[in-house]
Amino acid sequence: MAILVTGGAGFIGSHTVRLLRALGREVIVLDSLERGHKKALLGAELIVGSINDEALVEKTCRQHNVSAIIHFAAYKSVGESMSSPGMYWNNNVAGTVHLAEGALAAGVQQMVFSSSASVYGNPRTTPIAEDAEIRPENVYAESKATMERVLSWYGETHDLRSVSLRYFNAAGASLDGVIGENWSVTTNLVPLVMKAALGVSGPVQVFGNDYPTPDGTGIRDYIHVEDLARAHVAALDYLAAGGASTTLNLGTGVGSSVIDILDRTANEAGHEVPYEIVERRVGDPAVVFADPSAAERVLGWTSKLTLDDIVQSAHAWHASQVSN
Ligand SMILES: NC(=O)c1ccc[n+]([C@@H]2O[C@H](COP(=O)([O-])OP(=O)(O)OC[C@H]3O[C@@H](n4cnc5c(N)ncnc54)[C@H](O)[C@@H]3O)[C@@H](O)[C@H]2O)c1
Repeated sequence: MAILVTGGAGFIGSHTVRLLRALGREVIVLDSLERGHKKALLGAELIVGSINDEALVEKTCRQHNVSAIIHFAAYKSVGESMSSPGMYWNNNVAGTVHLAEGALAAGVQQMVFSSSASVYGNPRTTPIAEDAEIRPENVYAESKATMERVLSWYGETHDLRSVSLRYFNAAGASLDGVIGENWSVTTNLVPLVMKAALGVSGPVQVFGNDYPTPDGTGIRDYIHVEDLARAHVAALDYLAAGGASTTLNLGTGVGSSVIDILDRTANEAGHEVPYEIVERRVGDPAVVFADPSAAERVLGWTSKLTLDDIVQSAHAWHASQVSN
């Protein structure tokens, strides 16, 4: 029995594939490599192709005796989703339909899905629990909310059981420095801070320092990618044990500001990180952090790694990439 990991050559997928293999689980990756890297797979078996190819999904599931799928494959840029929405409906939403159809045709009825805290939009209260209102504020977030509903409907019509995991801000790199995030296309804060700290870019742009937070900058919940990887294994085991479909936040429950990240990175780098304050971005909430208690209750999972672990591992990883 194998686990099919879509998007396994990407940032979170590659850390999860590595953990699954370390645990002795059989893994097969389906990735178009459009935004992922074969070398991040560290030799795991890869099929280069798209989740939109229903026949390929079915054939792969049959050939490898797949018992469950972890579905990471998607586009994830908010800005791109607003300028090219069709790409997001086709790849994220239609892709998930094709994946589910192919999987079900092969008899696979368990799926762990990468959702996002962005489905909550600008939350009315924090910490955010799973029963908070779903209010996507961009096409990417709407695509994730729709993918959750698509999977939920397959549960009604076809007995597909799924766990939708709403990640907060994924960050960091493997603690041993072997794999990490590709910063060439990212708009995430941690890699942007590392670029500035390592002198590869100009100052980090900090979008507003007049929010109602202790230092005036926005607060988010940064979750280490290795903690996320463990949660996927727990979700697979939950489904394998007969668990019902559910939706869970994956966060630390701790909010950190932009200045917190800059300060900790300065400690790590041994010098200040250049930054400049610019206008707030429209629609950016002041404070977002998770209530992660449901994941603990249902999966027995909690985050273990801290913001310092995130900063240290990301700094070491990006420094190694610059020097290579
Ligand atoms: N990184 C975050 O902070 C974050 C937060 C919330 C949710 N997510 C979600 O988690 C998932 C993984 O995120 P990531 O940061 O690892 O992204 P990533 O871009 O690094 O990885 C996505 C992978 O999917 C592959 N892919 C894309 N479309 C495909 C298709 N049609 N068929 C096959 N492969 C395809 C890409 O080549 C890439 O390897 C995504 O669904 C993303 O929306 C990420």
